[in-house]
Amino acid sequence: MASQSLFFLHVLAIFSLTSLAFSASLSPYYYYRICPKALPTIKRVVEDAVRQERRMGASLLRLHFHDCFVNGCDASILLDQTATIDSEKTALANNNSARGFEVIDRIKSEVDKACGRPIVSCADILAVAARDSVVALGGPSWRVPLGRRDSTTASRAQANNDIPSPFMDLPSLINNFKNQGLNQKDLVALSGGHTLGFAQCFTFRDRIYNDTKNIDSNFARQRQSSCPRSGGDSNRAPLDPTPAFFDSKYFSNLVAKKGLLRSDQALFSGGQTGNLVNTYSANRWIFSKDFANSMIKMGNIKPLTGSRGQIRVNCRKVN
Ligand code: HEM
Ligand SMILES: *[C@@H]1O[C@H](CO)[C@@H](O)[C@H](O)[C@H]1NC(C)=O
Ligand SMILES: *[C@@H]1O[C@H](CO)[C@@H](O)[C@H](O)[C@H]1NC(C)=O
Repeated sequence: MASQSLFFLHVLAIFSLTSLAFSASLSPYYYYRICPKALPTIKRVVEDAVRQERRMGASLLRLHFHDCFVNGCDASILLDQTATIDSEKTALANNNSARGFEVIDRIKSEVDKACGRPIVSCADILAVAARDSVVALGGPSWRVPLGRRDSTTASRAQANNDIPSPFMDLPSLINNFKNQGLNQKDLVALSGGHTLGFAQCFTFRDRIYNDTKNIDSNFARQRQSSCPRSGGDSNRAPLDPTPAFFDSKYFSNLVAKKGLLRSDQALFSGGQTGNLVNTYSANRWIFSKDFANSMIKMGNIKPLTGSRGQIRVNCRKVN
């Protein structure tokens, strides 16, 4: 028991050092003095939302990812369309797909009430909600570096350009992540986010009808039964066999050629990413540790700090 807690302390120390190395300005203790109730409040609302619908945890995790990949983790994804805001909500990867905005609104209003004023940014709320979602669904925890501020702009064009597509091959995926300062290990570990949630038929139709070599034929047939050749575009299928549990089945599934998206299965086609898929499929602890580290790295993409940006009062609108 004693050696186990020592071990965990050691792991925590490594996580904290890693986050320091990646970011000079964000800190896990940012709200510690100015609003000690901030983090417990976010956790409570996320747990409540996940209790009502397990999938919401998946949706909140994905929101943070789609925020960070477009001009950094600045809550740009939360801004509604106006005459001057080019909303990212209707970008290809988000339209009729990104969800959880009402939960973020509820967190924001409860956090502002708990703190007595709007001091917690929407970008930090996204980062903490992603972590709390993963924990609520049985995944690892990590200390989220905080102190991000919110953007005053959004860009649908940038979202269309920067959010990876499920039709990408391995070199394109590697390059897409590299453009964000993320390496092949980050790509594989973070793709493990697909241990949670669902995808719509139009995102995997081409794979289940046209891929022949890299797909288990029983799996393809099974998926075809709820995703016809034409029509049923929005019919959903789970991204792994246990979409409400954070486990390593996503990876063992790839080894069995049962990845749902072409971009998932592409990770298991040799090279360094193939080796990582094998490692993660066999060892959930290594996956969890690498996932937590890569989440911190992703959360550190181009944050607005100091006097840049603002703390929004309403996450959907610029102040
Ligand atoms: C590697 C490139 C990635 C591609 C091409 C990709 C693509 C997709 C697609 C097409 C969907 C289904 C959307 C829909 O049909 O409405 C999806 C869902 C999802 N993605 Fe990714 N994704 C990638 C990486 C990530 C990362 C890095 C994370 C988080 C760490 C993530 C988390 C999720 C989650 C949790 C869902 C399910 C959402 C829900 O059920 O509401 N994805 N992704
Ligand atoms: C987003 O989806 C709505 C509803 O299906 C559709 O009317 C609209 O054209 C889509 N917007 C974009 C930019 O694709
Ligand atoms: C399969 O590939 C062909 C040739 O690229 C394409 O025309 C067809 O639409 C694809 N089928 C599906 C179901 O995506």
